[in-house]
Amino acid sequence: MTELRTARLRLRAFRPGDVAAVHVYAGDPEVVRFMEWGPNRLADTEAFVAEAVDPPEGSHPFAVERDGVLIGAVALTVTSAEHRRGEFGYVLARGAWGRGYATEVATAVLAHAFELGLHRVAATCDPANVASRRVLEKTGLRYEGRLHGYLHIRGEWRDRLLFATVRPRVSGERR
Ligand SMILES: CC(C)(COP(=O)(O)OP(=O)(O)OC[C@H]1O[C@@H](n2cnc3c(N)ncnc32)[C@H](O)[C@@H]1OP(=O)(O)O)[C@@H](O)C(=O)NCCC(=O)NCCS
Repeated sequence: MTELRTARLRLRAFRPGDVAAVHVYAGDPEVVRFMEWGPNRLADTEAFVAEAVDPPEGSHPFAVERDGVLIGAVALTVTSAEHRRGEFGYVLARGAWGRGYATEVATAVLAHAFELGLHRVAATCDPANVASRRVLEKTGLRYEGRLHGYLHIRGEWRDRLLFATVRPRVSGERR
């Protein structure tokens, strides 16, 4: 699996030994407040890491490391190989928030998605997740609309805001 580097971060394949570090954020109710999963029990995190170590076709999960410490995750998923569409989502441990890391991660994953040949890349966030919305805007995704009653999270129906971008056309290129 490809490893991605940004100015400050390393995006690498998951390893079985990542369970404890993943559980720091995946078990934190504040971190997962807007996520459709969690807060994890240890068994949930073990199952997540086991799948991330050996992901299914079209799924590209990366562990996010700063100075050798796992601080979060990002996953790119090919939602249609035929139409070259993908989606990504990210999560960082609370101690890593507010330093521009998510924007760095999202920018790297978007570039990777286009390198893989994807044409359109989307991401969604909860309407109340101001930080995530800002990350998507800073990464260059455009707001496309509100998906009403899109997720049933911990007993509550939640809307999602849809953001997306299409691969920039290189001059002279035919597609
Ligand atoms: C959302 C999340 C990934 C953001 O990570 P981050 O590394 O702090 O993000 P960045 O520092 O790159 O950018 C955050 C931006 O949101 C802004 N922001 C954060 N909280 C804000 C708030 N309450 N109101 C307004 N803006 C806010 C920051 O100022 C920054 O924008 P700026 O650069 O214009 O100042 C992180 O908080 C997280 O992991 N949350 C839990 C999981 C999650 O919600 N994932 C996304 C699911 S869609």
